Amino acid sequence: MKKGKLKIKNILIAILILLLIIFGAIKYIIHINTDEYKLKQIGYSKQETYLLKENLNQEQIDIILEKEYSNTITDLIQEKYFLFKNLDTYLEYCKTNKNTNITDVITKINTNTHLDYYTNIKSTDLSKDTLALLNKYYKVDADYEPEDLVNMSLSHAYSGHKTRQIVYTNYMKMCSEAKKDGYTLVTISSYRTNSFQEALYNDYANKNSVAYADSISARPGHSEHQLGLALDIVSINSGFGGFEETEEYLWLKDNAHKYGFIVRYPEEKEEITGYSFEPWHYRYVGVEVATYIYENNITFDEYYAFYIE
Ligand code: DAL
Ligand code: ZN
Repeated sequence: MKKGKLKIKNILIAILILLLIIFGAIKYIIHINTDEYKLKQIGYSKQETYLLKENLNQEQIDIILEKEYSNTITDLIQEKYFLFKNLDTYLEYCKTNKNTNITDVITKINTNTHLDYYTNIKSTDLSKDTLALLNKYYKVDADYEPEDLVNMSLSHAYSGHKTRQIVYTNYMKMCSEAKKDGYTLVTISSYRTNSFQEALYNDYANKNSVAYADSISARPGHSEHQLGLALDIVSINSGFGGFEETEEYLWLKDNAHKYGFIVRYPEEKEEITGYSFEPWHYRYVGVEVATYIYENNITFDEYYAFYIE
């Protein structure tokens, strides 16, 4: 009887030990299959792993697990305008441009400005309507003409100007508000056909140089003026020259976004836009986008890459 009891006790102990072993083995298998364990094996610290898990989704983590350890990845993912689809290009660029800071790397790659101008050109997506992008990497067909061009009144434009209806409506609103503050705005350039842009560009290039022309004028097919979404606005008392010194410019700079317009080629953003500062060139993007761009001090090129493309 005693012997029998002892036997049962031993069997129970053996089962318990076996269960503990099985439980331990399952726990271990689960542990070695966690992202945390796998990331540690690649070389990521606890802090880096936390950052990766905080900023990336599971599909993205799985891609990171396929790559070698890189301490640049954790710097990149913390950037506001980081785009996972550009990760490999960021890493490649960082390798060969060690002195470029991470924020600039993100901006360059997102806006394509790590590439030579007028290379890798794509057709812009016109279905984006007032948010379609044209720059040195995006073009529109030569025969594109907006369908809703309207004539601009001589009250706020020199003669013969046309622009898209939505631009005109908001421009006139902006002009009446500016007038209340004592400023008379006038449009000096508006919708341009592709051939007009071509003549303009060639004229700058022939009289000066291609480099000069490229710094102030879009090549045909690359100008927002062809979209009917850009207006060159000056003061009734000034032309292009010295416009940035006028009170009208100061007013536009801080108010244009309320009517959906942005300073498209701002000061100190020449490397991103590819153009010299143009205080007169206003692009219509709608109030919401214009306000974001104004408040965050970014270019439309950056906005497009992150929020639209
Ligand atoms: N001046 C601007 C860049 C244009 O030609 O559209
Ligand atoms: Zn312009």
